Amino acid sequence: MDRESKTLLKWYDTSRRILPWREDPTPYHVWLSEIMLQQTRVEAVMEYYRRFLSELPDVEALAAAPEEQYLKLWEGLGYYSRIRNMHKAAVRIMEDYGGSIPSTAAELEKLPGIGHYTAAAIASIAFGQPVSSVDGNLLRVFSRMTLYGTDAKSPQAKKDAEAYFMERMPQDRPGDYNQALMDLGATVCLPNGTPHCEDCPWKDVCQAHASGRELDFPVLPPKAGRAKEQRTVFLISDGTRILLGKRPNKGLLAGLCEFPGTDGALRTDEAGQFVRDLGYDVTGIRKLPKAKHIFSHKEWHMTGYAVNVRSLDGAVPADTTARARLSSVELFPATKAEMETRWSIPSAFSAFLPGALADG
Ligand code: ADE
Repeated sequence: MDRESKTLLKWYDTSRRILPWREDPTPYHVWLSEIMLQQTRVEAVMEYYRRFLSELPDVEALAAAPEEQYLKLWEGLGYYSRIRNMHKAAVRIMEDYGGSIPSTAAELEKLPGIGHYTAAAIASIAFGQPVSSVDGNLLRVFSRMTLYGTDAKSPQAKKDAEAYFMERMPQDRPGDYNQALMDLGATVCLPNGTPHCEDCPWKDVCQAHASGRELDFPVLPPKAGRAKEQRTVFLISDGTRILLGKRPNKGLLAGLCEFPGTDGALRTDEAGQFVRDLGYDVTGIRKLPKAKHIFSHKEWHMTGYAVNVRSLDGAVPADTTARARLSSVELFPATKAEMETRWSIPSAFSAFLPGALADG
């Protein structure tokens, strides 16, 4: 075993995270933990893992479990295809493998829900097979160790990382080696500007650290820019109540409340006409400071208008295209008290909230 691997395993023996699936790493336990960890943080998985095992302690129990039971055990974890696939795989293990979980990465990868990484993780941790399980954490460690200069998310980078770690794989502890690298990436070699290099067992051999360039790696492709959308938002009030809308059940902020709005940045005269076209008797309009909200893939650049109208009741759209252009599927008036206690307005609209509550 090379010196770096030895140093890493020594670090793992004293600094590893204490995790329930590491206490008794049977193939079923490791499999379940790896499936839960695919899209979910370690801390969030813990309780689900314990509860799941207390009801479905082995492959046979999972294979025989009714759908409602395993879905309920997954409730709140999300990405339900994970457990549906795991159940399918359990049935197949009972039928085709005599109830024994296969022990090689190649066989594991044939089962539903088990990809290349997960197969390697299970094969190494539960069966001691010398295979490398390269996830984002390992890619980051690899790219800093080697000053890997090209896109760390590319298939080639994965292959190069796998070859790098395989060459150094301690044959007697493959599972611990992989998990040591996972822990190193998750607790020391952190992304986003704050690696704890002083605590790293590899600080003397890491090329990025030697050259003070930890933050230049991994090299990642530029993120696709967020689409910028102009929107106009209306705070339509009759002096005591304000008009709220319900968003469509699909898409952004699905089914939530909003201040009614429309695409594009309308000028004041256009905004006034728009509200009149909705059927309201406009008595005044005031432009509000611009507001921005950033979603994961989209930015809203919002122009807001406080619009006073004679009444919020009985509006009949004078122009149905205006109503069709409004984002809300339903409209209803709310008092200031109702807005504070009954309705929750998504934070995308929070810039407009103080004005709405003061005016309403
Ligand atoms: N993430 C995925 N698998 C893991 C494991 N076995 N230990 C820690 N983090 C993980």
